[in-house]
Amino acid sequence: MAILIINGSNNDTSRVNGVAIYIKDALAKRQIAIDEINVHTLPAEVLIHADYTSEAIHAANAKVAAADTIIVLTPVYKASYSGILKTYLDLIPQKGLVGKTVVPIAVGGSHHHLLVIDYALKPVLAAIGATNTTQGVYIVDKQIERTADGFAIEEAITARIDEQLAQVQRLQTV
Ligand SMILES: Cc1cc2nc3c(=O)[nH]c(=O)nc-3n(C[C@H](O)[C@H](O)[C@H](O)COP(=O)(O)O)c2cc1C
Repeated sequence: MAILIINGSNNDTSRVNGVAIYIKDALAKRQIAIDEINVHTLPAEVLIHADYTSEAIHAANAKVAAADTIIVLTPVYKASYSGILKTYLDLIPQKGLVGKTVVPIAVGGSHHHLLVIDYALKPVLAAIGATNTTQGVYIVDKQIERTADGFAIEEAITARIDEQLAQVQRLQTV
């Protein structure tokens, strides 16, 4: 089982990273390897100019190709996924998500944009070939607290993330 996180947050302090850290820890405890693409660390020029020829994009796309499960993390911006997430999704090959299980997770400032996963994120993932997308998890940012040594996530949310990870593991073992 090869899992990849595509993290569409804009910086390392975003609470979206609390979710990434939680998932990496949870999988490490189960000795499951996980790789990560932090979109905000890819070269901005490459993303803005949609430069398919860039080595950085080839390397990121190789991680996508190698993964059987992809967890897509995004903050909710203007009732949708983040713009920088889209700049990278645009550079994944046309059918780059075919055959992969995709877990969408969004962090918004309120419950008002709860449907962002179904109405915004899932359609673009489907356009890149994802047909096996889990229900996903919508998190309100106040459910993730910044702490002195990182982030603390409400138990109700970690339970839902755990359920998604368990579902992915079940799919990989059948
Ligand atoms: C430019 C911008 C637009 C945002 N638009 C929305 C929105 O439309 N709906 C929503 O629920 N939250 C919105 N938010 C709130 C963020 O989704 C939320 O604060 C973020 O996921 C977590 O914040 P953090 O990155 O500061 O930890 C927006 C935040 C910013 C900065």
